[in-house]
Amino acid sequence: MVEKTAAERARELRETLQHHSYLYYVLDQPEISDFEFDKLYRELVELETAHPELITPDSPTQRVGAAPSGAFSKVTHQFPLYSLANAFNIGEVDAFAKRIQERLGSASQVEYVTELKIDGLAINLIYENGHLTQCVTRGDGEVGEDVTANVKTIRSLPLFIKNAPARLDIRGEVYMPRQAFVELNEARDENGEAPFANCRNAAAGSLRQLDPRVTAARKLDFFAYAIGNAEETGITSQRELLETLQEYRFSVNPNYHLWHSVEEIGAEIERWETARRDLAYDTDGLVIKVNDFAQQLALGYTAKAPRWAIAYKYPPEEAKTKVTDIIVTLGRTGVLTPSADLEPVSLAGTVVRRATLHNADYIAEKDIRVGDTVLIHKAGEIIPEVIRVITEDRDGSESAFVMPHQCPVCGSEVTRIPGEVAYRCQNPSCPGILREKLIHFASRQAMNMDGVGPKVIDLLLEHGLLHDAADLYTLRVEDLVELPRFGKKRAENLVNAIAETKERGLARLLFALGIRYVGTKAARLLAAAYPTYEKLQTATPQELATVDGIGETIAESLYTYLQMPQSIAFIHKLQDLGVVTDEEVSEPAADGIFSGEKVVLTGKLPRFNRTQAADLIVAQGGEVASSVSSKTTLVVAGEDAGSKLAKAEKLGITIWTEDDFENAVAKIEP
Ligand code: IVH
Repeated sequence: MVEKTAAERARELRETLQHHSYLYYVLDQPEISDFEFDKLYRELVELETAHPELITPDSPTQRVGAAPSGAFSKVTHQFPLYSLANAFNIGEVDAFAKRIQERLGSASQVEYVTELKIDGLAINLIYENGHLTQCVTRGDGEVGEDVTANVKTIRSLPLFIKNAPARLDIRGEVYMPRQAFVELNEARDENGEAPFANCRNAAAGSLRQLDPRVTAARKLDFFAYAIGNAEETGITSQRELLETLQEYRFSVNPNYHLWHSVEEIGAEIERWETARRDLAYDTDGLVIKVNDFAQQLALGYTAKAPRWAIAYKYPPEEAKTKVTDIIVTLGRTGVLTPSADLEPVSLAGTVVRRATLHNADYIAEKDIRVGDTVLIHKAGEIIPEVIRVITEDRDGSESAFVMPHQCPVCGSEVTRIPGEVAYRCQNPSCPGILREKLIHFASRQAMNMDGVGPKVIDLLLEHGLLHDAADLYTLRVEDLVELPRFGKKRAENLVNAIAETKERGLARLLFALGIRYVGTKAARLLAAAYPTYEKLQTATPQELATVDGIGETIAESLYTYLQMPQSIAFIHKLQDLGVVTDEEVSEPAADGIFSGEKVVLTGKLPRFNRTQAADLIVAQGGEVASSVSSKTTLVVAGEDAGSKLAKAEKLGITIWTEDDFENAVAKIEP
């Protein structure tokens, strides 16, 4: 009986978790907090640990397989994945439509669906009795590679489908969002690894990882657009198919439309020519498909591609310009990154003046010289990059680039670590590296210090007020008012803004420390699993690597960092200055002192700020509301409490002063 209950509960948890993943990753409309999600997830993990026989391959706990797989085995597709013929101008689209009309007869009404052509890689997902059993790359269309363990890490993908036919082959595109691509390449530059050329290569490279934990960290996503055996499902058109895929809870790109003429399609092509720049992912064109499946069947296939579809490809957005200089900048890990100063040129909607050159190997491989005319584009539509040199335009005046042997800031010798493409300044007290570390520490994704940007940091460094990031918390109004352009008000604001960041929590702090390989996502995962610095500091690399989403590289790097005496001293310094090194993951206490209470805070609470007081109440099982009503059970009234206090008095609700509140919370057991 007990076993049956556990099995029931496990099934229920799997379904609930999949439902909330769908709301979060596909619809972007979460209904529960991350905290509640994690709680359910942990319950399932515990249940599965106690009853390993309850683990199913489609359990959300099985998205990231623990062990690296061997090579990818070859799989023959049951239904081949065709490619598409291309059209490069509207005339070719018109010819495509005419051929169709001819084959179907002039009496036939033909409707077309246009979809964005997502620039990723096609994948086939096999669902058997609703369960995702195999994920295979397109390969040559006949035979692909089994990448199941890696594809399963994509959170928006359902691991099971309710009310599905016995077998479903779902086709779609695995892609990497532009932001994820940019962040990945930035990290690769810093880590001395070669960058990916574009979102598609990054997605392909990420799917071909032998360790699924690496894939899981890559933020891949998926859009579904086809079913291999659609006729068997009773679906009669492409539009209905896209709707059915949504009912199955796949992520379907919303930018599809039904059209009746080539003119309409032409307008749609024109619309996306520029609109596509603003998307969160790369598109290289539009796919135009005959909507009706009976007509598709009548049209059939050539040897390679369907006659009922064509891909309109946009010309690549490129520009020609001149490299006026190659400069080198220093990163926070000491890496020297070269970039090209360019003659300003307009490209994909902005004026470009600089392009990243990533590293010395990249420059050598493309043989980029100062004075060269080059073709540039924007990788991920964001980062200007040199595609190639136009060598015909050389006149002999160009000069080759040599990586400086000295750090551009401190002048100490630069070395290249074997196996890495990066040159690094190895001086541990290089002021240039310190500057970059400080900028990173204060940045939005890290401690998010309002008003502390590169200019302010430069000023503080110049005046000897900063020697490490912890010194930011020692800044006093008296020191700041001495600085140029700093009045009393600005100085006070800055000190307050910095003080406020003491409570950002462990996840942000971990990222802010700038530990190699520890990005925002890894930092969040680590802080959730080890919610205090002390717990994290005493964990072994093996323990750290058991955290879902944390691979050995991250675990080793973090461990090494946390064991270094300088790191320990630095974190202790932060703690002494009042910086919180824990993550708030405490579960609301069922028997807390505010259990069942509906509390309203009003007036000033000088000893607690509002957020702190509210957090305490929630942690102790209470609810915090903003207005007093008959449901309110307690009002904490600070200084200058106004109408809320008056209303509470009128309703006869219990009223506490700040002293009462302080006395009550003082009794909480730690
Ligand atoms: S339909 C038989 N729809 O483009 C039809 N393909 O050049 C097969 N692609 O291999 C493809 N977005 O990787 C289709 N909305 C979309 C697409 C799409 C991207 C890719 C897919 C395919 C390639 C063909």
